[in-house]
Amino acid sequence: MANVGQRGHRTGRRIIVRGIFTLGLAGCVADQSALRPGGQQAEAVADLFFLMTAAGAVIWAIVMGVLIYAVLAPGRPRSERFADRFILIGGVIFPTLTLAGLLVVGLRLLPANPPPAGAIQVKVRAEQFWWRVSYAIEDGGVVETANAINLPSDVAVEFLLDSPDVIHSFWIPALGGKMDMIPGRTNRLVLNPETPGRYRGVCAEFCGTAHAQMAFDVEVQRSGEFYAWLEREARPARADPAGEDAFRRAGCPACHTVRGRVEAGGRIGPDLTHFASRKTIAAGTAANTEEALRAWLADPDAVKPGARMPGYAMLPSDEMDAIVAMLRGLE
Ligand code: CUA
Repeated sequence: MANVGQRGHRTGRRIIVRGIFTLGLAGCVADQSALRPGGQQAEAVADLFFLMTAAGAVIWAIVMGVLIYAVLAPGRPRSERFADRFILIGGVIFPTLTLAGLLVVGLRLLPANPPPAGAIQVKVRAEQFWWRVSYAIEDGGVVETANAINLPSDVAVEFLLDSPDVIHSFWIPALGGKMDMIPGRTNRLVLNPETPGRYRGVCAEFCGTAHAQMAFDVEVQRSGEFYAWLEREARPARADPAGEDAFRRAGCPACHTVRGRVEAGGRIGPDLTHFASRKTIAAGTAANTEEALRAWLADPDAVKPGARMPGYAMLPSDEMDAIVAMLRGLE
């Protein structure tokens, strides 16, 4: 019975979401929508949204009904006692009880602490203006990637969130609420992703010029696929030697590491070890295509105003070709 009830409830919600679509708000309903939850916490937030919307609509209808009655009903005199009671019940008791009830429902959604047993940990550090993501692996090592987060669909995930300089906010609308990332402290956020698929996360706190171009891809996978991905991600890169030389000559290792190839690389910019497997570049700014990559390398600031990477338009075209080929080969 509970299942049937839940299914009916989900169907009802789907109809409302579709209604929102047809109202021309399609832009709000995509892989970045809190109204299309893909995990437990987001589902609770969506339920609260629909409950509040429904309760607000009912109260609005009652108030309008009373208003219409007051205007159109024959003007029969009412006693002063009736008026006092009407104000006491409708203006004091009813709003107090309703708002207290909604407050209790809302407070239940505050993040739970501590994380459930068996949760995996993912560290995310917000840089200007991209996301440094790291996973601890079994042998004690760390797998680092950037602007892309893969998550298992059947295990709780505890995010450890921080920032080296300015305040950002970590938000995957389809998976749950947001959490600030504050320099000097580590904030924790537990999410239970449930529905495999691709989602989009964003920075939800104004942090500087490229704040609006600070997004990331999220891929929720079944456990088996997730661990296979993590194992692939932990492998060193395979870069073609010609491209690697050009990469070094251009000075890229000063900021970027390519595990297994450019080990002593800098850590200022994103780790590029499996760059070619990422869906987007420049923190979700453009699709990871050759054309977009060339535009980015030539003039990052034109693609993403405020980007910290210098432009390389001055490189001879064969050097640029070699670097592009190397990066596109980093599967
Ligand atoms: Cu980072 Cu806004």
